[in-house]
Amino acid sequence: MRDEVIKGNILIVDDKPENLRLLSNFLTERGYKVRSVINGPMALMGAKAAPPDLILLDINMPEMNGYEVCNALKEDAQTLEIPVIFISALDEVLDKVKAFAVGGRDYITKPFEFEEVVARIENQLTIRNLQKQLQESEARERERAYQLEYALRQLQNSQAQLVQSAKMSSLGQLVAGIAHEINNPANFIHGNVIYTTQYVADLLELLELYQAQLPELTPEIQRRIEAIDLEFLKEDLIRILSSMQVGTERISGIVRSLRNFSRLDEANMKIADLHEGIDNTLMLLENRLQAQSGCAAIRVVKEYGDLPQVECYPGQLNQVFMNILSNAIDALQSNPGEEREQGNLPNSMPSSVTPTIWICTEVLNSDWISIRITDNGPGMSEEVQSKVFDPFFTTKPVGKGTGLGLSISYQIIQEQHGGLLQCFSQLGQGASFVVKIPLRQP
Ligand SMILES: Nc1ncnc2c1ncn2[C@@H]1O[C@H](COP(=O)(O)OP(=O)(O)O)[C@@H](O)[C@H]1O
Ligand SMILES: [Mg+2]
Repeated sequence: MRDEVIKGNILIVDDKPENLRLLSNFLTERGYKVRSVINGPMALMGAKAAPPDLILLDINMPEMNGYEVCNALKEDAQTLEIPVIFISALDEVLDKVKAFAVGGRDYITKPFEFEEVVARIENQLTIRNLQKQLQESEARERERAYQLEYALRQLQNSQAQLVQSAKMSSLGQLVAGIAHEINNPANFIHGNVIYTTQYVADLLELLELYQAQLPELTPEIQRRIEAIDLEFLKEDLIRILSSMQVGTERISGIVRSLRNFSRLDEANMKIADLHEGIDNTLMLLENRLQAQSGCAAIRVVKEYGDLPQVECYPGQLNQVFMNILSNAIDALQSNPGEEREQGNLPNSMPSSVTPTIWICTEVLNSDWISIRITDNGPGMSEEVQSKVFDPFFTTKPVGKGTGLGLSISYQIIQEQHGGLLQCFSQLGQGASFVVKIPLRQP
């Protein structure tokens, strides 16, 4: 190796040519590669152009003395680490304190004791080598730590996905099971309400026919009619039956949503209507949107564009809508009054605004569509915003938040659909999540 042949690059700086020649010859003989210069400015230039392993620096020089040169070397990052050994004549006063203060490592005195010079040079070179090795191994450690951190993140990511997909698939099975179980009895009622309505109408008609044909009532029938308030009963019965019909229709709707929703692990891409997915999700969230103790009902404003059908995993996208919408609901119901007292919310946000979620869909161009879900809740600080897509990041109390919703959504949109999931928010100004996905998958 090069270092075995040449023991080190040494730059000698001295204004007296005979000194230079003496040192230079001796060190070259000993296997060092030597360059010499005769003044400070040249030394600085030379050291910068090709940094040596060590500098032997005379103190007494015209123009720029050794202390000044050393100072300048230490101020430049390129030359900062090169060890400097000062040279001084015995008859000169060597200010040792100053020599060390400006960054000198050692000093030698003239006339030269050559073995001593070599020993001191060797010392400095060894120290410098060890320093370099240390720096290199530090850099390696840093690199390794970085790699470990990266691996850990990957691991957290895939763990988060595993947890969530296990949860979702068991939830999916549960939901599918419930939907199936409710479906039968609900159909039973729903189907029969129609007949019941018809039968009741027939019976009432018959009753009217009786009343018309036999207007003379016996006192007992008259009493009975009054006791049951026949007129009211007739009206009410019709009303009850029609509200039962509305109720059973609603049950069928929910069952349909549950079934759609649980199509989670459909292996294949489908061409799907995203508005249907959003509406199904809203239907499932309906009871959370209603007024809760201390929180007003949440208004949902749909601004649907003319979306074409999209090639996607519909169940996964429903999951994304569910995650974003439930976060918006959480945010809108997170007692903003309390936060304002703590000074987290600007006063510009009046507490009287109706909590609202806007869902806007639009076609971006011939290949992409976007879905923007915005709320006028408390919003997020920049710091929170920078972490929302991190797995396990949550600001919610233990047991409430898992910190998985958005990281999973991110995976679903970015990785599974080649799309974009972005978050826009300012503290006190609500939050907006935008999903952009291509119409067709490659
Ligand atoms: N609409 C929103 N408004 C304010 N903060 C939000 C909103 N959506 C998400 N966040 C923040 O992002 C965090 C992470 O969300 P998420 O990944 O769904 O986990 P979790 O809901 O379990 O906390 C939330 O804890 C919350 O701090
Ligand atoms: Mg969430």
